[in-house]
Amino acid sequence: MSDPNISSTQLPDLNDVPRERRPAHIAIIMDGNGRWAQRQQLPRIEGHRRGVASVRRTVEEAARLKIQQLTLYCLSSENWKRPQGELDFLMHLLEQYMIEERSIIMDQDIVVEIIGRRKGIPASTLSEMDKTIQLSSQNSGTKLCLAINYGGRAEMTDGVRSIARKVRDGLLDPDEIDEATISEHLYTAGMPDPDLMIRTAGEMRISNFLLWQVSYAELWVTELCWPEFHEKDLHEAIRAYASRQRRFGGLAT
Ligand code: IPE
Ligand code: IPE
Ligand code: MG
Repeated sequence: MSDPNISSTQLPDLNDVPRERRPAHIAIIMDGNGRWAQRQQLPRIEGHRRGVASVRRTVEEAARLKIQQLTLYCLSSENWKRPQGELDFLMHLLEQYMIEERSIIMDQDIVVEIIGRRKGIPASTLSEMDKTIQLSSQNSGTKLCLAINYGGRAEMTDGVRSIARKVRDGLLDPDEIDEATISEHLYTAGMPDPDLMIRTAGEMRISNFLLWQVSYAELWVTELCWPEFHEKDLHEAIRAYASRQRRFGGLAT
């Protein structure tokens, strides 16, 4: 039976958007869990719990649509400023996600990778993360990159340090450092830059996410809080992306 809410030009499979118009790499700033919970008069952590359901839906839909890469901002290097109880709960959710999603990740041929600093993440969480990364490493479908304890400036700092060490050790000539050298020394080495960056909960800012990599990403912001984000919203963002004209500093063709 056809869904009366879906018009014939907006097919659930996104068949109205040709494959070559779709983003290869989508990055999402999953914001607004706390505000969503507060609106329902629930504690902030309930928002995070509900946020995990949105992660599940979005990951599965990205895999179904054969999106090459989905990068999710799970915890920023600045989020450590939050109360310890909230941070502990986030770590617990992360660990549970790694365990509970493993079979779906394998069924859907998803490759999991993590970007961010490991320091500060509890050992048990790191161990479950590593298990999932290892297990999924031979898969060949959508890459799910989770940004955990990630900060764009921290990433650049770490990258500059490793470049400086190579220069010091005589392995790299400073005159040969170009943009590609910098990209290769970031956590995202080898990954394509995001084509589309989605932010939920309405803030018009980047919040230290993928600073180097977003230089020409298309931005799409929704007022919906992350727990309210559904497959149809991902489709809407992809449709908006498909209708944009990217120029990369050049002229319209
Ligand atoms: C995003 O939701 C999740 C994380 C940053 C971990 P928030 O917790 O930032 O929710 P708001 O922005 O306070 O509503
Ligand atoms: C960005 O959200 C970080 C994540 C979604 C993990 P924040 O809630 O931390 O961003 P600000 O503080 O509103 O900029
Ligand atoms: Mg927030």
